[in-house]
Amino acid sequence: MLSDTKDFVEPPPNAVMIGTGKGGVGKSTIAAHKAAWHAARGERTLLVCVTGQDDDDLGIERFGRGIRPEGPSVLNGQGLFRAIQERTPLVPVREVRPNLDVVPGGEAVGELLALLTARLPVEGIGVVSSLARALAPLAAWYDQIVFDSAPEQDSLEQLALAACRWLFVPTRSDDASIRGMRRIARNYKLVRKQLNPQLQVVGACLYGSNPSATQLHSEVRAEIMKELGPSTPMAARVVGYREMPAVNARRKGLTFSEYAALLPTSAKSYDVAAGRAARADVVPQSIQPLAAEMDRLNSEIDELCRKAAT
Ligand SMILES: Nc1ncnc2c1ncn2[C@@H]1O[C@H](COP(=O)(O)OP(=O)(O)OP(=O)(O)O)[C@@H](O)[C@H]1O
Ligand SMILES: [Mg+2]
Repeated sequence: MLSDTKDFVEPPPNAVMIGTGKGGVGKSTIAAHKAAWHAARGERTLLVCVTGQDDDDLGIERFGRGIRPEGPSVLNGQGLFRAIQERTPLVPVREVRPNLDVVPGGEAVGELLALLTARLPVEGIGVVSSLARALAPLAAWYDQIVFDSAPEQDSLEQLALAACRWLFVPTRSDDASIRGMRRIARNYKLVRKQLNPQLQVVGACLYGSNPSATQLHSEVRAEIMKELGPSTPMAARVVGYREMPAVNARRKGLTFSEYAALLPTSAKSYDVAAGRAARADVVPQSIQPLAAEMDRLNSEIDELCRKAAT
């Protein structure tokens, strides 16, 4: 979408995008948890999901959490699409958790591509700032703004990058994930050069890996530096690959720490064996380390943003 013209956009100082050009590495999980982490600390937080897929980590659609705005639905990416189409401010679902508002992603976000492409000949690269403009009227209300982003979609990545001050890049250890970093690095450089000179890579992390695979981790860290620059700060925390608690928590629309809080009252395997409970009622023990690792990762990302801001 970008051309040679210059156009400046001022991003909110507290807006961070969780992004990398590869699908399935944990972007949405980290973004939802980061937003919930800040909100739980009493910070007014907005999560904006610039993704064509609504993972609903926070149970907005499946469990009806949050206060929906009056008027047409904002679920499934419709609110995000409409704000850009009608050039109006974003309208979030409010209080999905105390202090946490969300602009949900979903199918309608995919329709933005045709809309922006149609506007491009008339409006030039200013179309890439459409999301930044829709966010601007409400940005000052929030202490923290977190963007989830779409993989393998340059236009949507650029749209979110133009609205952010910081980019945090999670990756897995496989080659396809490393190649995905190349893609976000390219979009990052384009947006920074042509639209948003304040944009900065705030750090990166290895996500969903065996925490004891230290040799592999140092190899991946070297790759990250190569793709994102030698001074890219790395989060020391590696969130482990723990599929069952991660998938179960999402199905229940709960964050890892909310799901872990159910552990003391959870049904046990012997209840399932005795026919008193279903397997789905058993909260796996491994949710505890997963919740602790995710909390520490969020704390590190927060520290990296604070350090970069000073
Ligand atoms: N620590 C973890 N261990 C194992 N599985 C995980 C972990 N965290 C998240 N997952 C699961 O991995 C899958 C991909 O995660 P997620 O949706 O966050 O990735 P994504 O990068 O946003 O994907 P997409 O590019 O499709 O939007 C999901 O099923 C999620 O529940
Ligand atoms: Mg996602």
